[in-house]
Amino acid sequence: MQKLSIQGGVALSGEVRVAGAKNAALPILAATLLTSDAMRITNLPQLNDVRTMVKLLERMGVKASEGEHHAQLRADAITEPFAPYDLVKTMRASILALGPLTARFGEARVSLPGGCAIGERPVDLHIKGLTAMGAQIAIEAGDIHATARRLKGARIFMDTVTVTGTENLMMAACLADGETVLENCAREPEVVDLARCLIAMGARIQGHGADVITVQGVERLRGVEYAVMPDRIEAGTFLAAAAATRGAITLTDAPVASLDPVLQKLREAGAEITVGDTTVRIAMRGRPKAVSLRTAPHPGFPTDMQAQFIAMNSVAEGTSRVTETIFENRFMHVQELRRLGAHIEIEGNTAMIYGVDTLKGATVMATDLRASASLVIAGLVAEGETIIDRIYHLDRGYEHLESRLASLGARIARVA
Ligand code: EPZ
Repeated sequence: MQKLSIQGGVALSGEVRVAGAKNAALPILAATLLTSDAMRITNLPQLNDVRTMVKLLERMGVKASEGEHHAQLRADAITEPFAPYDLVKTMRASILALGPLTARFGEARVSLPGGCAIGERPVDLHIKGLTAMGAQIAIEAGDIHATARRLKGARIFMDTVTVTGTENLMMAACLADGETVLENCAREPEVVDLARCLIAMGARIQGHGADVITVQGVERLRGVEYAVMPDRIEAGTFLAAAAATRGAITLTDAPVASLDPVLQKLREAGAEITVGDTTVRIAMRGRPKAVSLRTAPHPGFPTDMQAQFIAMNSVAEGTSRVTETIFENRFMHVQELRRLGAHIEIEGNTAMIYGVDTLKGATVMATDLRASASLVIAGLVAEGETIIDRIYHLDRGYEHLESRLASLGARIARVA
């Protein structure tokens, strides 16, 4: 099992380009199921989750060819509209095939995503929405089996703001008969990026980025070339690492507009932030100040940045309170950070972080994608060597993270 070895204590400096967004790439790849035309998706990040999604589509009969940061896909000969458990269990985002398959082929069989480290993460709202659009849905031997002659537009209120739920139903509505109104939608930038791709394919969508999205169904969609937006969570992770190590870095090709909640908290921590059209420069002169935060759906503070900010707060000046409102078990990085000397107490969905002067390197274990990023940040700050185990979690969502951090001066290497 591969590990990361980090010799902490280096202030990051230099420039790094932000890669394409995992959470935009995955729904956009699923959207290729909505047309029989060829699609070319560019600015794809080189991630295991992206490779898994392409593999899943190929299992269904999609013709795919992958390049370094792009893929060509054509769903003109789907043999079986099926997302099997062996792939779904490795990537919950496989659920994004459910809406497109049901809308285009009138049938879908997608394995129910199992449990997940950070929470139960049900998909009841995906199922409820498709049912409202006329799909017959049964749970058979662990699979969601959906059938529909043709989906019909409907008015759907989602009880909880759900990112992939909004994406699944928006994709399904594109080919439904009539108008669909989705209420209480997720407003994440990745939802907007997917909508922009669908509109380029000929979909008739309004309201994306707000909490009510209206879709007029069309008969068919056409193939397009589309470039995935830059990854705001990867960008935020680099910025938090620079702040924690008291460094100064510049991000290029950054999704500046979608970073506001993170930039605001970094400024509160004492960072000097300068933004350009596609660049963000951060300089942290001296020790970061502790910043309290509460995660929320966009435009609130992103839950996917919570673990990284707890790592930064661990060595900040003062005490901070971090409340996680989206997932019920997203503090598993805390017990690992304690092994490095962090002083953190948890009460329910709130962590109290008492900043310490230094952390001490140790062996720690990654438990989920963003927890592993949090441990990397802590390792970059800790005195001595930190070994991070189970870094396959990291490879799901960060492209060559160790080599890009090394280019910013970090002493980090992948070890067997
Ligand atoms: C997306 O997951 C992201 N993944 C997650 O990123 C992100 O943390 C999450 O949105 C929240 O922003 C992708 O986009 C591929 P949700 P998703 O449905 O869509 C509850 C990462 O690190 N819910 O918005 O699965 C659910 O339990 C990953 O990149 C229902 O109750 O999250 C959760 O409490 C981790 N019923 C809340 O809604 C449903 O049918 C938000 O979940 C659906 C969701």
